[in-house]
Amino acid sequence: MRPMGTWSWLAIVTGLCVFEGCSGHGPFGIFVDSTKDCAEMLLQRDIQTVAKTREQRFLGKVPDTTARCLGGKRAENLREGPWLDWPNYWATGDVTSLAPARLLAHAKVMGPNVHGINGALYELELQRIELIKFNLFDNNKTYEAYVTGRDGEAGPVLKTWPEMRLPRTHPDFQAVGGDQPQVCRGELIRFRTLSGTCNDIRNPLMGSTHQLFARNVEFNSTFPDLGLNEITRNRHGDRVGLLKPDPQSISRKLFTRAQSQPDRCREGYGLPGDVQEAECEYKKAPFFNVLAAFWIQFMTHDWFAHLEEGHNRPEWMPVGCATQRVKNVEQPLTDEDVKQLSCRPDDKIDAAYIAESTESWSLTHGGKAYLTRAPKTTANHVTAWWDASQLYGYDERSGKRVKRDPKDPAKLLLMPVREGGAEGDKLGYLPAFEAGDPINPEWSGQEATAFPDNWSIGTSFYHNVFAREHNVFVDAFRKLAARTPDGDSGLRNPAKPDHVIRYRDVTPNELFEVTRLVVAAEIAKIHTTEWTTQLLYNEPLNRGMNANWHGVFAKQQVVADALKEVVRRLDGTNDAKKANSLYAALAGGPGIFGLGSRVYEGVPLVGLINPNKVDLWDLKNDDHINGGVNHFGSPFNFPEEFITVYRLHPLLPDLIEYREWNKEPNVIRQKVPVIETFRGKATESMRQKGLANWALSMGRQRLGELTLQNHPQFLQNLKMNRLQSSTQQIDVAALDLIRDRERGVPRYNEFRRQYGLKQLTSFDDFVDTRLPQDSPSRHEQEQLVKSLREVYGWHQCDASKKITEARLNDDGSPINDCLGHPQGSLIDNIEDVDTVVGWLAEFRRPHGFAISETQFVVFILNASRRLFSDRFFTSSFRPEFYSTLGVEWVTNNGPGHEIMEQGKPNGHEQPVSPMKRVLLRTMPELAGELQGVVNVFDPWARDRGEYYSLQWKLRAGAEEDKAFANGGR
Ligand code: HEM
Repeated sequence: MRPMGTWSWLAIVTGLCVFEGCSGHGPFGIFVDSTKDCAEMLLQRDIQTVAKTREQRFLGKVPDTTARCLGGKRAENLREGPWLDWPNYWATGDVTSLAPARLLAHAKVMGPNVHGINGALYELELQRIELIKFNLFDNNKTYEAYVTGRDGEAGPVLKTWPEMRLPRTHPDFQAVGGDQPQVCRGELIRFRTLSGTCNDIRNPLMGSTHQLFARNVEFNSTFPDLGLNEITRNRHGDRVGLLKPDPQSISRKLFTRAQSQPDRCREGYGLPGDVQEAECEYKKAPFFNVLAAFWIQFMTHDWFAHLEEGHNRPEWMPVGCATQRVKNVEQPLTDEDVKQLSCRPDDKIDAAYIAESTESWSLTHGGKAYLTRAPKTTANHVTAWWDASQLYGYDERSGKRVKRDPKDPAKLLLMPVREGGAEGDKLGYLPAFEAGDPINPEWSGQEATAFPDNWSIGTSFYHNVFAREHNVFVDAFRKLAARTPDGDSGLRNPAKPDHVIRYRDVTPNELFEVTRLVVAAEIAKIHTTEWTTQLLYNEPLNRGMNANWHGVFAKQQVVADALKEVVRRLDGTNDAKKANSLYAALAGGPGIFGLGSRVYEGVPLVGLINPNKVDLWDLKNDDHINGGVNHFGSPFNFPEEFITVYRLHPLLPDLIEYREWNKEPNVIRQKVPVIETFRGKATESMRQKGLANWALSMGRQRLGELTLQNHPQFLQNLKMNRLQSSTQQIDVAALDLIRDRERGVPRYNEFRRQYGLKQLTSFDDFVDTRLPQDSPSRHEQEQLVKSLREVYGWHQCDASKKITEARLNDDGSPINDCLGHPQGSLIDNIEDVDTVVGWLAEFRRPHGFAISETQFVVFILNASRRLFSDRFFTSSFRPEFYSTLGVEWVTNNGPGHEIMEQGKPNGHEQPVSPMKRVLLRTMPELAGELQGVVNVFDPWARDRGEYYSLQWKLRAGAEEDKAFANGGR
């Protein structure tokens, strides 16, 4: 165990303060209730601290004393295997995880449940700090400065980069300062620009359209298939390649949803007339609905796109269905095999875009050699900002697809296509593309919007909802303007900062852009505090995500002041990595959102409103406008690895159980295949059936579990006109693997080591050993492990081959090809497993996690970063940019005061959720149905039961709902 220095203690104090709130118990609250085990833990100094070097990272594993202190004997016994320990602590699961009454009776101060939750949060914060410290690798030629520093400043605290300047060819080159130091000012910083420039006023290019994706893994661990260095060659031998193991064989063996009545599913096409008798079986997650599945697709379209206008490079390549491994030998598929697997050897796809593939150069620093970028790079063809670019545009062409209302250009154009429909229908629907619109021909007939690719009823749903929300905000603003035309709107033009902009002065164009800011922030809030807390449905994550947004001290001024003082003192630190780590931990105090949007005398880092102090924030001060952002020394963009963990296609069902809100919501009237809503057909279905009926249908239905053998059949057989093959079909599940291989994502075990997680040593590690030996689930997992072994194979290991630089064995020796097994033994090819396959095979997960721990660790880092880096979510979340109404709308989830939910869901008083408020505004007819809904992404007829229950139990009023019949299978 590493000894704790002052810094380590500080990290513990701040980490714990951040998450437990420190209220009343002091920063060491977790320790003052000294049960025997906790005392022992303290005595032995068994507390994990921030690692100094990559190899020493905290792997989510704790000593037995810590496990006993935080989760009792049970937690101690469950420490076996590579998986995180905190999910075994007290109160981190459902009711059964709560400490028994006898322990609570003896608790002197807080009790074991609080210990468990705080312990979990401390370990999550530790992970975040280490991820910031060890996992930032920018591809834009800034990495050298990150390693070596610049002008006496250490790399991790650099705040500007020459590579983020606008080039001479950019139309705003002169406006930002040309060849002089570049700073965006005036009109360029008022709103979110179309291409995402000038978010950070001193790094105009950062996050803008066409910037390169970053990496979260060491550059020399990328592109393992190319065998560019000895370590990757040692790790994989000659066993991996673009089509090795065969992606379609993997898809058919490991991804296909089994169907007991295939003729009622018909590869996801259902039955004619959308009749209810259609059936496509899938493994369902009881606590997450289909709205949540499409929500995340809607989000990814905002954050990243490798494709340009729905296309890749015009170079067609095969996609497998050529070989399979039989008894550990790779063999060509016979016709019979092809038929049996039902894969397609003739399928072809256009190759992925590569931005740079010239040799990347190395640098040596402190005796260590580094690559300065990945061997190949790829570009993000949309803005990386959370700016609702899927709705509003990310370049000139996509911007032209967005239609404004000619009667009021502040509004989006919405059409009255369902005359006499429900109340929400009066707000209208998006118009379809017209001849002359700048689109790819495949999109004709679809609703007009900026990002139209892979359109279906799900994307149509969210684009229509948020277009309505846009117009509802404009209406509210206009109403206010009509009441008080001479009143101060709160808005200011940075070009004329002292000029008050009255309501009557706000132009339609300004109001349109203000509304974009508001809608983007609402979306970010829904995602952070509502979608994610249902995706990761347990108490530590509920607190952690809310801390990211609101901060944990929102209502505790005394603690907040103390924290600010700590930050102030630490600001003088000259240890760059330490400063960054602290910043991350401390930001949980005041929250990331709004960080730096208030400035008080003598306190450099504030997000909280302090009514007793004068807010000095000033639009004339560049440091106030931009002062809340922190990029941790590495310009912001998503890493390639982030896309990998968002390949969430199994979330989708093949058939949507269609219901009607005004007839009898418990009745499933039709089974509509998702594929029958692909592209233009979505628009038809939307208009015919109406937004509220789709909301109800997708709100009630469970989504697909992220696990093996659960990919939608329709995506394995997707037809797309642009494909140049006889079938014009593609297996998107296989393509997910191919794309990751093309873009050099490390395979699963190295991926985990790179992110500071423990490696697996055999496929058997995937089995959830907490399940009884004879349980059907355990049996299924063991069968899947057999299939994994069949597909990826095994080899005789060679202990002389070192396979990674990311970490060492516990005894300090290098990790070798034998992964701890005896020299020469036959070991599983666990190193070769594709990352997507690996995380889908993680059967053991923290309670209420719809995703695996491997995906989760990628989110911890990048979900925080996309808030930390965005000026409009930090220091520029101000009325000067958002208007007074806009700030209030985002803060209170709509107009007026915050509205509180009834009761105390999971023990918390909470506001009515932001997405519920959006649905109530855009579809008021759903008020009755939504009454009992606490989180829009939890199936609407599910009884949430006691503390974080995952049970599929119906709520009162939904007794007749067939989704609950036969135990809900
Ligand atoms: C009707 C629904 C959907 C269709 C038709 C669809 C189709 C596709 C296709 C064809 C690709 C491959 C593009 C390529 O590399 O050539 C793709 C990529 C992807 N899909 Fe989906 N998808 C759907 C839903 C979803 C959902 C629900 C998610 C959840 C997050 C998702 C996440 C992704 C991601 C992350 C990629 C990679 C994008 C990139 O490389 O930039 N998709 N999808």
